[in-house]
Amino acid sequence: MATVGYSTAQRITQPGVKAFLASPVKKLLINNRWVDARSGRTFEIVDPTTEDVLARAAEGDAADVDAAVDAARTAFEGPWGRLPVAERARYLLRFAAAIEANLDELAELESLNNGQTLATAKAMITEGAVGALHFYAGSAVSIHGETPATDESFFNYSLREPIGVCAGIIPWNVPIPMAVWKIAPALAAGNTVIIKPAEQTPLTAVRLGELLLETGIPDGVVNIVTGFGPGAGSAIAEHPGIDKVAFTGSTEVGRSILRASTGNLKRVTLELGGKSPNVVFADANMAAAVPTALAGFSLNSGQICAAGTRILVQRDAHDEFVETLTRYAGGLTLGDPLDPASDMGPLSSKEQFERVTGYLDVGKAEGARATTGGSPADGRGYFVEPTVFVDVDNDMRIAREEIFGPVVSVIPFTDENDAVLQGNDTSYGLAAAVWTNDLGRAHRVARRLKAGSVWVNNYYTNDLSLPFGGYKQSGVGREHGSNWYEHYTEVKSVYVKL
Ligand code: NAI
Ligand code: MG
Repeated sequence: MATVGYSTAQRITQPGVKAFLASPVKKLLINNRWVDARSGRTFEIVDPTTEDVLARAAEGDAADVDAAVDAARTAFEGPWGRLPVAERARYLLRFAAAIEANLDELAELESLNNGQTLATAKAMITEGAVGALHFYAGSAVSIHGETPATDESFFNYSLREPIGVCAGIIPWNVPIPMAVWKIAPALAAGNTVIIKPAEQTPLTAVRLGELLLETGIPDGVVNIVTGFGPGAGSAIAEHPGIDKVAFTGSTEVGRSILRASTGNLKRVTLELGGKSPNVVFADANMAAAVPTALAGFSLNSGQICAAGTRILVQRDAHDEFVETLTRYAGGLTLGDPLDPASDMGPLSSKEQFERVTGYLDVGKAEGARATTGGSPADGRGYFVEPTVFVDVDNDMRIAREEIFGPVVSVIPFTDENDAVLQGNDTSYGLAAAVWTNDLGRAHRVARRLKAGSVWVNNYYTNDLSLPFGGYKQSGVGREHGSNWYEHYTEVKSVYVKL
């Protein structure tokens, strides 16, 4: 039974969360001060588990973005942009320490607002957010230019300089890591930043703003503007005073951000959707492949851009694979994400619930068959059962469009070539996986799959020293990786006649 029979207020256990929610209207962080939106407007934030209102947030729009840009510009042109790397890194390390010190509280707040299980929230905060702050603090010293040995009578070199005012427009699926992934590289490279959290899940971004103030970070270096996409988000995308936008979200909005960037030709990086193939050969270690495939589409209720939502299984192994996967998926416990017994919480919003349940109907209408799940859970909360679709053809909408819920399509293939062709038959290219015990085949298929990350006999592994991002309509540019700073700096070539 998924739905909980009590209110949001009864779910809160952390004193820090109680204290945070005791002032129920959250403000914008501009120039290190908490301010109302210029318009005075606010909007509701809903707990997806109970559908109760959790709090309200200031509805920032163009006027507030202007103020944030002014603050960020002044901070950038002030000492921040020229601060030694080690000092910038120290703020990131203090921020990481503040997050770790408040882990239980942040995880509960994240879970209340987004619906992810407490265990997922803790892992995402520790590995995703704290890990990223450590990575960027440590690798800030690696920012460097080049000194080509071209001509003895010249000393030529290049410099990497911060771009200026950066903005991060982020989604609701993993709010804390998403905020940190935009803040940390921007600051490590000497930029200042404006963060626009998703309207569904702004609470932890606001709390991160409070923790940033505790680090003693100078005025205007990080600004947080809550609000809607059309409004705060579009004002950022169009703003002539913003030098770079990093966006994570839907491909549709990614396109609109790219179009809006043409005004001042701001730098844009986009991390967008996916329909990632998880390719399982008959010789694979099924004891690992099946539970990992389950996690690949059910972790965070399937709301992960790299989710493995097309499982391609070699025909000989197909029926047994489906049988085991169905049993495992049917055994997941759907419930209050704060309850350690729950494997899966609700979807993050009503909008997403409607979208995902709409796709369940689309799948059935297209002739696919759900071997488990296929329905929303009754009662309050945005709960959807984990769903395995078989009798799926790769041309069906459920195999082509990003559903962003706990829904997977299992599709048979014949041989290596068929697996690669079907795997690549998608407009996306964010991630892929291949399961086999044949070493040569593993590497051949890894090379041929058109995806920014390919996992061999694992899924979701994330190493910040390697780039993350998408081929095709899954994005533009990359995040992380040892050359991460190329996306957060301008390069200048200097020619010195000796
Ligand atoms: P979305 O792309 O509309 O929202 C993501 C962020 O963009 C939010 O902060 C939103 O306020 C902002 N935004 C929306 N419209 C904007 C605009 N015109 N200009 C600037 N910013 C704007 O995503 P949405 O509607 O919440 O989800 C729809 C689908 O997008 C999901 O079902 C999923 O398929 C995909 N998605 C993918 C994500 C990923 O990690 N790649 C994350 C979230 C959604
Ligand atoms: Mg949208």
